[in-house]
Amino acid sequence: MPDQQNAQQKKRIVALISGSGTNMMALHRACEAGYINGELVGVIANKESAGGLAKAEAEGISTAVLSHKDFAERETYDVQLQALIETYQPDLIVLAGFMRILTQPITQHFAGRMLNIHPSLLPKYKGINTHQRALDAGDTEHGVSVHFVTEELDGGPVVLQAKIPVFEDDTAADLQERIHEQEYRIYPLVCQWFCADRLRLTAQGAMLDGELLGSQGYATD
Ligand code: GAR
Repeated sequence: MPDQQNAQQKKRIVALISGSGTNMMALHRACEAGYINGELVGVIANKESAGGLAKAEAEGISTAVLSHKDFAERETYDVQLQALIETYQPDLIVLAGFMRILTQPITQHFAGRMLNIHPSLLPKYKGINTHQRALDAGDTEHGVSVHFVTEELDGGPVVLQAKIPVFEDDTAADLQERIHEQEYRIYPLVCQWFCADRLRLTAQGAMLDGELLGSQGYATD
C-alpha cells in the first residue's frame, strides 16, 4: 500500500532564515516532539550573521549560507537559492524570518510547498516595520499570519492568523514579543496540517481537509 506508506513518511522540511531563527527552532522542536510529521533537514540563511545558524548547528541540522551580497541580480540569487534548496529534496519550505523578496520563478517552482509567516494581520501591512505601522495607525489589535507563498509579496492565500491586543503604552518591541508567542503556536500547527496532507494550495485558494479557507484563513470570525 504505497499511499499509506507515503502518508506515514516524515516530510522533509527546509527553513530559510535571516535572523535569530526562533520560529525555525519552534518548528524543529515540534518535529522532534512528534507534533509535526516532519524533520527539519536543512536551514539556509542569506547572511552569515544569522543567529539561527548556530542554533541549528547545535541541533545537528545541516546549514548553508547563500549571501545575497555575492549576487548583483535578484534573479540570479534566486536561481542559486532554488538549486540549494533542491539539494535537500524538501517536501516543504518554510520562510522563517527570511527577509528577502523572492522572484516569480522561484515562487512558481515551489508553489504549494512554500509557507511564510508574516507579522501582521494580512492583507494589512505587507512588507517591513509592521509593528511600528500598526502603532502609528492607532490599531487596537495586531497579529500574525501564515500563508502560502506566491509571487505577490506577502500576498498568497492565508492559512491561519492569530490576533493580539495593542495597549496604549506599547512599543514595537512589546508587540514583537507578544507576536512571537503566537508565532510559536500557529506556525507549527500549520506545518502539522501540511505534513499530515491536510492542507494544500489550489487554484481557488488554500484548502484544509477539503474545505476552501476564507480570505483570513481558518477560523475567521
Ligand atoms: C518573525 O516575527 C517573523 O514573523 C518575521 O521575522 C521574525 C523572525 O523572527 N518575518 C517577517 O517579517 C517576514 N516579512 P525569528 O528569526 O526569531 O524567527
